[in-house]
Amino acid sequence: MKKGSILTLDIEKFADRGKSLTRLDGYVVFVPGAVPGDRVKARVYRKRKKFAEAALLEVIDPSPLRTDPKCAYFGTCGGCKWQQVGYQAQLDAKTQSVKEAFAHQGGLPDAVVHPALGADDIFYYRNKMEFSFSAGRWLTPAEIQSGDDFDTSFALGLHVPGNFAKVLDLKECHLQSEWSAAFVNAVREYALEQDWRPWHARKHTGYLRHLVIRQAAHTEEIMVNLVTSHHDTDRMEAMATWMKEVAPQVTTFINTINSGVAQTAFGEEAHLVFGSGVIHDRIGEHTFEIASNAFFQTNTKQAETLYKVAADYAGFTPEDLVYDLYCGAGTISLYVAPHVKHVVGVELVDEAVQNARRNAEANGISNVTFETGDMMKLFNEDFIAKHGKPDVLIVDPPRAGLHPKVVRQIGELAPERFIYVSCNPQSQAKDLSYLMDTYEVVQVQPVDLFPHTHHIESVAQLRLRAQ
Ligand SMILES: C[S@@+](CC[C@H](N)C(=O)[O-])C[C@H]1O[C@@H](n2cnc3c(N)ncnc32)[C@H](O)[C@@H]1O
Repeated sequence: MKKGSILTLDIEKFADRGKSLTRLDGYVVFVPGAVPGDRVKARVYRKRKKFAEAALLEVIDPSPLRTDPKCAYFGTCGGCKWQQVGYQAQLDAKTQSVKEAFAHQGGLPDAVVHPALGADDIFYYRNKMEFSFSAGRWLTPAEIQSGDDFDTSFALGLHVPGNFAKVLDLKECHLQSEWSAAFVNAVREYALEQDWRPWHARKHTGYLRHLVIRQAAHTEEIMVNLVTSHHDTDRMEAMATWMKEVAPQVTTFINTINSGVAQTAFGEEAHLVFGSGVIHDRIGEHTFEIASNAFFQTNTKQAETLYKVAADYAGFTPEDLVYDLYCGAGTISLYVAPHVKHVVGVELVDEAVQNARRNAEANGISNVTFETGDMMKLFNEDFIAKHGKPDVLIVDPPRAGLHPKVVRQIGELAPERFIYVSCNPQSQAKDLSYLMDTYEVVQVQPVDLFPHTHHIESVAQLRLRAQ
């Protein structure tokens, strides 16, 4: 096999990151976009000692796991990479990936991993979408084949995978809502009419950078956050007038400024154009205030399922002291607080902690304490002396998992009940492998917050071993 060879392959299984693979005499060939059970024609574009990667050219014989993708941009857009896979097959693949993470990264092949809990809404499930403007429009194969002329100097949509400068000009998107997709189209038309220039990722010129839409699942509130390279009061006043007319559903409009080179919707300053600057959404019994820069689980309904699993695994009693580490805006803490004596939340980002405190107050919850700090430094003997030894420990770290110091501290502290919530089962299983002298894994529940992507949340219930 050489680079450029065209192969006929029978696809065996899903691999990491949503790719699929097959083996030729033990040699692994990854084929992104293929589905287990497919017979495909694919061209080798990368060849390494242990594996090759091949681009899918043709599905000769489709797998029964396949379904028709809903979106015209599927295959080119980085938003949904699994729309060609039936939802039950997606869930099975995610369950398998958690099992494999516990077996391979955790050395825990016998861990009880339940089938992933699927979402009822597999489209229009995101409460937040971050669209990008770009002076480099990427065309889909269908757009190229159409033979039409396209202005490639303006795009508003999502990035193509692995290309920070190129953006697909999306006329449809099924991730947030029909309203949101129509609003994106209206904003594009307005910006073109006004001749506002999009950001050029290499020259670092242009005005329009991102369009962030937050749409609450349980209230009618919608936030529009337009990220631009500088503030222009006249433009924003004109856009506010336009928006109130064509999109009266928008309850608050913010203009965030990012003049730096980094392609991020976080900015140096935010100007409130109209409305309160926040929206409200509900998880469980509580209402949360969400600011433009606040972390909030992007799938509101499935976040509730996730927290319910974590709470069931914790088996709370009214006397429990609970630590909620990596607590974000305190959503787990507040969900748990009515069932226990006290919750202590720790979070690195001070704004999120301010949010958490305000949310506690607004919901009339007083048995919570939030601390700002880096877990690696804060989680020590002084912290435990100050707050008391917890009966239940809940952690929900970022993708990288726990710092080794935090893992050691958990091993020494050894609370009776320990729940590890994770958006990355690989780092979760690895962290837990270092704690197996102290804890045993009772069960693991994957929860799907991200249909049509390979991402999965995983909740592990740990029980202290008898000493
Ligand atoms: C996956 S989020 C969990 C948020 C929250 N549990 C929720 O469900 O909304 C992880 C959180 O950990 C915070 N974080 C990251 N590194 C941290 C550190 N070293 N110390 C404390 N918090 C950290 C992030 O800011 C983020 O809010």
